[in-house]
Amino acid sequence: MADAIIDLQHVNIYQGDNLILQDVNLRVNAGEFVYLVGKTGSGKSSLLKTLYGELLLKEGEGTVAGFSLRQLDWKKVPFLRRKMGVVFQDFQLLTDRNVNDNLKFVLRATGWTDDKLMDEKIADVLDKVGLKAKGFKMPFELSGGEQQRIDIARALLNSPKLILADEPTGNLDPETSDEIMNLLFHISRDFNTAVVMATHDYIVVQKFPARMIRTERGRVIDNATIAIE
Ligand SMILES: Nc1ncnc2c1ncn2[C@@H]1O[C@H](COP(=O)(O)OP(=O)(O)OP(=O)(O)O)[C@@H](O)[C@H]1O
Ligand SMILES: [Mg+2]
Repeated sequence: MADAIIDLQHVNIYQGDNLILQDVNLRVNAGEFVYLVGKTGSGKSSLLKTLYGELLLKEGEGTVAGFSLRQLDWKKVPFLRRKMGVVFQDFQLLTDRNVNDNLKFVLRATGWTDDKLMDEKIADVLDKVGLKAKGFKMPFELSGGEQQRIDIARALLNSPKLILADEPTGNLDPETSDEIMNLLFHISRDFNTAVVMATHDYIVVQKFPARMIRTERGRVIDNATIAIE
């Protein structure tokens, strides 16, 4: 069997005392691309938060990128995060520094110290997202699509085997959104990186077909098909 990068068994997910998703069973293999769809408020972000350690697992068993979610505590979360990249819809670069320095800030925060290695890594991830020439730009000099690509570059800094993306195309026009999708598919395929992407955007899902799972009535449905919400 292929290597599982995510393996959840009989997981219950809570927000406070409210049970949001029950008996979640989910396996995602290395390099796989998976859409997470479902109505607003149905638990997509809660599921992603469980996978990146923002919501701690209390019931059920789970591993993500080799980490046991049951044994996770706040001290271990940063180590889990280093194994994955997280991309959000409304991510903001620090406005007072250029792209290179934004990325360097993240590297330092995740334990990097060698300047030369950091510069090489930054050049590498900017190249991967097609923005090699933009390292010295300030955030306000970038378009929305370029900012989103920088966010993906940020997610790639620690060479993750898993990217979790929460509506990464949410604020983008259709053309820019296609660009981001092509980039995520390319990363998944060429670097064998698994991607789990929450989205509302059925146009994107139709245009870039992949495995789909759905949050619905407190459950996660595997092998979901496109349905009008
Ligand atoms: N921080 C929180 N505290 C308490 N309840 C929360 C919190 N975040 C989300 N919830 C509740 O959990 C449920 C699932 O929310 P979640 O954000 O996971 O849904 P979603 O599918 O991501 O929705 P959307 O498509 O609008 O982003 C909702 O009922 C929401 O009100
Ligand atoms: Mg959400």
